[in-house]
Amino acid sequence: MDFKRTDFPENFVFGAATAAYQIEGHSFGGAGSTHWDTFAATPGNVVRTEDGAIACDHYHRYGEDLDLLVDAGMDAYRFSTSWARVMPDGKTANPDGLDFYDRLVDAMLERGLKPFQTLYHWELPSALADIGGWTNRDTTKYFGDFTDVITDRIGDRVHAIATINEPWCVAYLSHFLGHHAPGLRDIRAAARAMHHINLAHGEAMTRLRAKGHKNAGIVLNFDYCEPADDSADAKAASARQDAIFNRWFIEAITKGTYPAEALEGFAPHMPTGWEDDMAQISQPIDWLGVNYYTRHRLTADANAAWPGLRDIPGDLPVTQMDWEIFPKGLHAFLTRLSNDYVGNMPLFVTENGMAWADKVENGAVHDPERTQFVSDHIMAAKQAIADGANVQGFFYWSLLDNYEWAFGYEKRFGMVHVDFDTLVRTPKASYHALKAAIAR
Ligand code: FCB
Repeated sequence: MDFKRTDFPENFVFGAATAAYQIEGHSFGGAGSTHWDTFAATPGNVVRTEDGAIACDHYHRYGEDLDLLVDAGMDAYRFSTSWARVMPDGKTANPDGLDFYDRLVDAMLERGLKPFQTLYHWELPSALADIGGWTNRDTTKYFGDFTDVITDRIGDRVHAIATINEPWCVAYLSHFLGHHAPGLRDIRAAARAMHHINLAHGEAMTRLRAKGHKNAGIVLNFDYCEPADDSADAKAASARQDAIFNRWFIEAITKGTYPAEALEGFAPHMPTGWEDDMAQISQPIDWLGVNYYTRHRLTADANAAWPGLRDIPGDLPVTQMDWEIFPKGLHAFLTRLSNDYVGNMPLFVTENGMAWADKVENGAVHDPERTQFVSDHIMAAKQAIADGANVQGFFYWSLLDNYEWAFGYEKRFGMVHVDFDTLVRTPKASYHALKAAIAR
């Protein structure tokens, strides 16, 4: 890789990220049914109708997995605590679930890894899906209660807490585009989820502050968008996409407003009195997590209902997800966020990585594409620091090949290969390359 640890500020954190449902094995330890289990069990939603029942069996193998982070010389581990494991019905604590996260956090500390916890990485308990999930305002209060219960157990030992992972995916991808659980395609449901997920963030912040927690934030995802051509229609389409994807959440959280280009579609469907929630949503946070993967080129689709967008494929090399590789977008977001929204607040790249059809051959995985990808993106973060952004860490997505949601186990994002028949872990060449770079 083209960088070394000493190119970065002294306390810069290198780590890797995962999420509970994608790796733990949700059939273990008394976890409750989630909307991902039922979404996956419905034909047509997930490749081969695969689910997270076993996943990487991290529930039993977490020691080995944490050792992989330590062996790579990493400083931190970004993980999530499953709501449905901690509270199988969304409301009642499961002692085995709390014990698991207690052991997991202690195991990180024993190894000198800083725990970066995410409270919600998408495994909504089915009992709450039954009452409307994120379309129902009550879910935000139950999320606050979950925040209290898990924080009372491990909050004294985690280094940082993020309330929500990628609210755009929770709300828009899942309630408007229908690609993720609960698989809705309904603008009213989407508008409510777009607001309630922000309110859930605000509610969790209120609960964390009441406990005196001082290192709490949120993880947002950003997708670079460009007009596909010079036409006014394409420019307006790109601006609408930017408002829905990139501005809706950060503006609500840092300024207490929603962008006009997005409200023009959602306003008629928003829950009554949403304006009164904006103060709670925009209370101060301590850090911002930035997930970044790719760019999209947009034009208007005159035959489609609002927001009337059409993707025009670009000509950059793509990953196994068919996502274009565009490291400049990471630099652009880190500088834009610091200039327009968060100033000097610490930024962490909480996810960046790529999927590839990796294979183990003679006991090794040759993935030069990933090594280049990671190097180019870390260099983009380095340039953003030089340009004034207060970037304090980089987490590769993901430590392990895992359950990639609607793509099942087909897309391999890991720095460590997982054989899903034997569950054997094999560090890929990119893992060794990153290890060498951060040892320098
Ligand atoms: C992000 C998710 C993560 C993983 C990566 C590839 O949107 O946060 O769980 O699926 O994309």
